Amino acid sequence: MISLNIEKTLGFISKENVFAYESQVKAAQDALENGSGKGNDFLGWLHLPSSITQEHLADLKATAQVLRDNCEVVVVAGIGGSYLGARAVIEALSNSFTWLQDKKSTPVILYAGHNIGEDYLYELTEYLQDKKFGVINISKSGTTTETALAFRLLKKQCEDQRGKDMAKKVIVAITDAKKGAARVTADNEGYKSFIIPDNVGGRFSVLTPVGLLPIAVAGFDIEKLVAGATAMEKLCGKDVPFAENPAAIYAATRNELYKHDKKIEILVNFNPKLHYVSEWWKQLYGESEGKENKGIFPAAVDFSTDLHSMGQWIQEGERTIYETVISVEKTNHKLEVPSDAQNLDGLNFLAGKRVDEVNKMAELGTQLAHVDGGVPNIRIVIPALNEESIGGLLYFFEKACGISGYLLGVNPFNQPGVEAYKKNMFALLNKPGYEEESKAIRARL
Ligand code: PA5
Repeated sequence: MISLNIEKTLGFISKENVFAYESQVKAAQDALENGSGKGNDFLGWLHLPSSITQEHLADLKATAQVLRDNCEVVVVAGIGGSYLGARAVIEALSNSFTWLQDKKSTPVILYAGHNIGEDYLYELTEYLQDKKFGVINISKSGTTTETALAFRLLKKQCEDQRGKDMAKKVIVAITDAKKGAARVTADNEGYKSFIIPDNVGGRFSVLTPVGLLPIAVAGFDIEKLVAGATAMEKLCGKDVPFAENPAAIYAATRNELYKHDKKIEILVNFNPKLHYVSEWWKQLYGESEGKENKGIFPAAVDFSTDLHSMGQWIQEGERTIYETVISVEKTNHKLEVPSDAQNLDGLNFLAGKRVDEVNKMAELGTQLAHVDGGVPNIRIVIPALNEESIGGLLYFFEKACGISGYLLGVNPFNQPGVEAYKKNMFALLNKPGYEEESKAIRARL
C-alpha cells in the first residue's frame, strides 16, 4: 500500500540507532491506545477509519448529492484543519483542467475562510454573482474569525441570490454538537449539519465530515478513501512489529535525524497534484510538534518546479535539512514524448519514452544529488493517485505524527501558540472585552 525506505538516511544516522527507538515507540503506541499520554482527550482520530459506519457514509453521500444536484459551485469555508484535508484530497484526485471547461459534471469546489484578503473575498463574491452556489461552513469552535467573516458574506449572498429556501438546502454546517456560533446559526436556520467529534482536533479531522463531505461533493469515492485509511490503521497498529510498521519507522527516523541537528524536514513531491497534501502535512506536523522551543520545521517543495528555485539551497545551503519524498509509482494517464524531425531541442533521445520515465529519472537523479550534497533522504512510495492510496497516506502521517510527538516529549494534540496572534488582533480591532489589551498593545505600536 505504501512503502517506506530509509536507506538513504543511513550515511547520516545508523540503522541501529533508529531501531533503538523500538521500546520508546512501543511506549508511545501504548500511550495512544490507552489514552495515558499528553492530550489524551483528542485521540478520536486513532481508530476513526475502522469505526466509520456505512450509515454515516450514506448520510454524507446523500447530502453531497443534494449539493451536486443544486450547485455549479460549492464554497468550502474553513481554515487550518477545517479545510486543508479536504483540499489535499480533492486536488490530489482532481483533473487539473476540467474545472476550466464550460460544461461540468461536478460542482467546482472553491475555498474561503482561510484568509482575510479583501481582494480575494471581493473577487470570490464577484465570481459567484451569476453562479448557483452552495456553502459548506466548517468550524469546530464555530468562532474562528476568518471563517465566520467569509461565511457572513457567503450566507447573505446565497440568500440574496438563491432565496432563503434554496439557501437552506445548499448551506451545510460542520461544527461542534452544541457550542459555537456556527452551531447556533445552523440550528436557527435549519441547515443540514454534521458534528465534528469532541475528541478529534482540526488537523486530525480529514476522515470526519470535515474532509469527507467536500470530497464526496467533488465526486470522489469516500468509501474507498476510508478503506485505504482502514488498511493503513491495521498496518500501523500497535501490535505490528517495529520493523514492519511504517509509522513507527518514520517517527523514529525523523526523531533520530533531529537529534543529529537536522532541524528542517522538507516534504518533496514530483507531482503538482500533491501540493496540498504537503500543505496539510505541514499543518499536521507544525502544529503538533512545534512547541516548548522544540520541533522539526516542516517545509515543502514541488519538484521539479522548485528545483529551479529552492534546488540550489537544498543542494548547497546550511546542512540542517533532510528530505522526505512522496513518490507516486504509477500515473493515471499515459503520454509519450513525440519525435521531431528537426530535433532542434535535442530531445529526440527521449522520443517514445513516457513523460513519467523522465520524471522518475529526475526524481532518482535528485535523490542521489541531494544525498551527495549532505541531505538525508526518506522515500515513501504510494501506488497511484487514487482514493485508497491517499486515504492510506493521510492515516500513515497522522499515526506517525502521534508517535513522533510523544517521542519528542510534547503534547501533539494542542496548539496553544495559535492564540497569541488572535489576542493581539482582537485587541487591535477593539473587540468588546479586550479593552485593557487594546490600550496595552497600542502603547507598543
Ligand atoms: O488543527 C487545528 O485545530 C486548527 O488548525 C483548526 O482546525 C483551525 O484553527 C480552525 O479551527 P475551527 O475549526 O475551530 O474554525
